[in-house]
Amino acid sequence: MFSPALEDIDRMAEPRRTTRGSRHFILILGLGIASMTAGPDLAGAQGTPDYLRPGLQPTPLGLDLYFLVPESNPLTAPKVALGQRLFFDPMLSADRSVACASCHLPEKAFADSVPFSAGARGGTAARNTPSLLNRAYGRAFFLDGRTSSLEETVLQPIQNPAEMAMELDETVARLGADSSYSREFLTVFDDGVTEDNLAFALASYVRTLRSGDASIDRFRQGDRTSLSADARAGLRLFTGGGNCIACHVGPTFTDEEFHNTGIFVGSGDVGRQGVTGESRDRGAFKTPSLRSVALTAPYMHDGSLPTLEAVIDFYDRGGDDNLALDDQIQPLGLSEVEKRQLIAFLRALGGVAPGSR
Ligand code: HEC
Ligand code: HEC
Repeated sequence: MFSPALEDIDRMAEPRRTTRGSRHFILILGLGIASMTAGPDLAGAQGTPDYLRPGLQPTPLGLDLYFLVPESNPLTAPKVALGQRLFFDPMLSADRSVACASCHLPEKAFADSVPFSAGARGGTAARNTPSLLNRAYGRAFFLDGRTSSLEETVLQPIQNPAEMAMELDETVARLGADSSYSREFLTVFDDGVTEDNLAFALASYVRTLRSGDASIDRFRQGDRTSLSADARAGLRLFTGGGNCIACHVGPTFTDEEFHNTGIFVGSGDVGRQGVTGESRDRGAFKTPSLRSVALTAPYMHDGSLPTLEAVIDFYDRGGDDNLALDDQIQPLGLSEVEKRQLIAFLRALGGVAPGSR
């Protein structure tokens, strides 16, 4: 009685294309995705692939085989290794106190466990640190979508005064003065340490952080035993009455679009409106992926919901009302049993805790 019909599962596969979605896509095309090629599936390594073993791994079960890699930044193993070294190095921050990994914790699916992460020089990040898993599939970056490629995205935290508080020329000078880094950059790039090469290496590493092969993927592949009865009922609610699938869709459970769920009423952060200036984008944030969501508490752009239970209670009451509330957000009237089932489903979307590096 609780097994979801096949069409429920199939609905998860394809993102719904909205008019807004296609316009956004064309905009990105205009900015130069034309120069991007589809990356080959990175086969070669042995065993179960996941972000426990960063590097060039085969595609985990349940994810798309292909993702976009800019032609100017081909994915190579030495470049990924350099990006990984940089990601864990506090030398990238002004006072050498904070690495990318201080906020994007590997054991928390590359998110953080506090509402706002601590930055260099006593700074505090303005938004909740998002997970970096599966961003290879992203089309818009940051919670307001202000960048459209990983290459454009990864230098911003270095320059952000609340995060790493560095000037880029100073970062380049610091890395260039380090003989080990300057040698390693030269083995990867002809022109050694430059701002572009720093972006290329960091973006390449982030691109390899993929998570799939979760209970839900094994279930969809035909292993009916991999989801508990509660999680199966939760899947039915997720794709049916709960209407979660309206936004959390596709292999990474996000439409990569921006929606107002009402959370901004408390935080005052206008989100997407800060980028587009449009009043209809007020309080809209990028739909987060739900892969490994059990590991990424607290939730939402301001980290205001401490647990998955609190998230489900929030959706159950229809979000927080405001003039721009997305019309897909409606009160759900869930029973306590149904809430538990939805949470069981969310826990089946990955979340094997890796040992930290
Ligand atoms: C002080 C904490 C902090 C540090 C250090 C930090 N980040 Fe972040 N990162 C964040 C926050 C917060 C956001 C979301 C910001 C926003 O949406 O405005 C973010 C967003 C991102 C995103 C976009 C993710 C998405 O889903 O759209 C990427 C990629 C990223 N960071 C990579 C890095 C890299 C690479 C470094 C190191 C060079 C780094 N971060 C350092 C806190 C941090
Ligand atoms: C109208 C689109 C939409 C619908 C429908 C929707 N979500 Fe969301 N979801 C979002 C957006 C946008 C955010 C981020 C909001 C923010 O950061 O303030 C979010 C955040 C979340 C988060 C927090 C993730 C994180 O990393 O912080 C969870 C969990 C979640 N949603 C689960 C669900 C579930 C379960 C349902 C169905 C009951 C659902 N969502 C329905 C758009 C939607």
